Amino acid sequence: MNRRRFLGIGASVLGAGALAAVAVPSAAWLLAEGRPGRLLSSELDLPEAFQVPLPVPAVLQPVRTDGTNDYYEITQKVAELEILPGVKTEAWTYGGSYPGPTVVTRSGRAAVIKHRNELPVASVVHLHGGHTPADSDGYPVDLLLPVGSSGAAASMSPGSVSPGSMSPGTMDGMPGMRHAAGRNTVGERTHTYPGKQRAATLWYHDHRMGFTGPGVWRGLSGFHLVHDDEEGALPLPRGERDLPLMLADRSFAADGSFRYPSTDAALAVPGVTDDYMNGVLGDVILVNGAPWPRLDVDRAHYRLRLLNASNARLYRLELDPQPSGGDALVQIGSDGGLLAAPVAHDGIEIAPAERFDVVVDFSRYPPGTQVRLLNRFGSGRTAEVMRFDVSSRPVSDDARVPDKLSVMEELDASAAVTTRDFRFRRSRSDGWTINDDPYQPGRSLATPALGSVERWRFSTDVHHPVHLHLDHFQVIGRNGKDPGPWDAGWKDTVDLRPAEAVEVLVRFTDYAGTYMMHCHNLEHEDMAMMADFTVG
Ligand code: C2O
Ligand code: CU
Ligand code: CU
Repeated sequence: MNRRRFLGIGASVLGAGALAAVAVPSAAWLLAEGRPGRLLSSELDLPEAFQVPLPVPAVLQPVRTDGTNDYYEITQKVAELEILPGVKTEAWTYGGSYPGPTVVTRSGRAAVIKHRNELPVASVVHLHGGHTPADSDGYPVDLLLPVGSSGAAASMSPGSVSPGSMSPGTMDGMPGMRHAAGRNTVGERTHTYPGKQRAATLWYHDHRMGFTGPGVWRGLSGFHLVHDDEEGALPLPRGERDLPLMLADRSFAADGSFRYPSTDAALAVPGVTDDYMNGVLGDVILVNGAPWPRLDVDRAHYRLRLLNASNARLYRLELDPQPSGGDALVQIGSDGGLLAAPVAHDGIEIAPAERFDVVVDFSRYPPGTQVRLLNRFGSGRTAEVMRFDVSSRPVSDDARVPDKLSVMEELDASAAVTTRDFRFRRSRSDGWTINDDPYQPGRSLATPALGSVERWRFSTDVHHPVHLHLDHFQVIGRNGKDPGPWDAGWKDTVDLRPAEAVEVLVRFTDYAGTYMMHCHNLEHEDMAMMADFTVG
């Protein structure tokens, strides 16, 4: 990654004239809502849609439990998976599967998870949406080095280089990344998630400095569900009718491996080649690790926990056909758990890392209907996601969506003690920046006081899904107007469209320390669109 790379992108993508005014992108595709990146084609024949049954990731069992804690162990390892029928794909996995096992916890109980790294590379695990003390949060330079490596020296081998051990020349063009000294651990590391948070759909994924994009692309992600009494008392769909759905696009090389346009195949240097700097889009849509799967459903209510675990792809999800009367997707929750009341949608726009918890009543369809889940932002194969085949057998169904879902505290804008502005932009020389600076570990852009409410304003040049660690926030405005149709509830990731500004209220609670804010387009993140904030 060097100065020429960023200039090159500017010239080829934006046009020379636009460089002077990055806030106003001129190229038409930058304004196309669903196209924050560039398509990388697979090199083998793609399977037909709706052939593979939808897999549901296994639930991880605790190795032991006591009065307050549940203890888990996950080994990160290489596994050979059959993702495309008849094709072997070598993946980096949590526990040998993609997605990794689903961790299911109870609000108020701590989950203590020991990760063991048997991968050929260093890793960092982060619980996205977790309300987590800083030392367990997965700071991107707190590396977990592979089992058997001998500290810093081991990290010098190709593919497991830590930013702290790189020669300054290696990181040329990414000022600040070269002096990072993380708290490295060899082999195993335990993360404690106290569970002081409401029921919500969270997910865990790799967060290694400079290499989150390739790490997640190769398989490092899984669900982490939190339940609580408030949710448990509701008549929502349960058991087999409560489904986590991890959406992710991928591309495959001729030999079946994941195809990804890293600058350096050995992953010693972060970043992707010039053409993909705005994000990598795959041409295969996976749901829970299966290409365009299908699922037999009863004529009953289903809870679908939608997660966009793609690196850069935005989806606009719709059912086809729509049931008569529309409003097929009844949203009951967002990133941070249940909404106060349901919100019905015909379609949902979901950016990387966002979650939408929806209920679909398949009894609104005649028996035998094949209901496709479409991506209206896609084209050709990427316009389809999966299919639900509505069965004709009679079933019982007590589930419904009540008018009131939860008691949701509304943060009060007048309680905000500070307003801070964060500009997410590409810079001529530094790649993707926040407030004109590329990421530098250890330099905080904000120092909110523990317990305080602040108003944060994000603004953009192109699409950026902005994510905060530690606490969920509430969106209070877009471009000076009301929040959008998909902004309800407690959020931890909010999508900004080109040249948009979004205001949120956030309260920093329980844990002091250094946390991250960043763009969740993983190519942007890896190319420095990240910042620390320190709660004190
Ligand atoms: Cu989903 Cu900082 O991450
Ligand atoms: Cu996160
Ligand atoms: Cu971005």
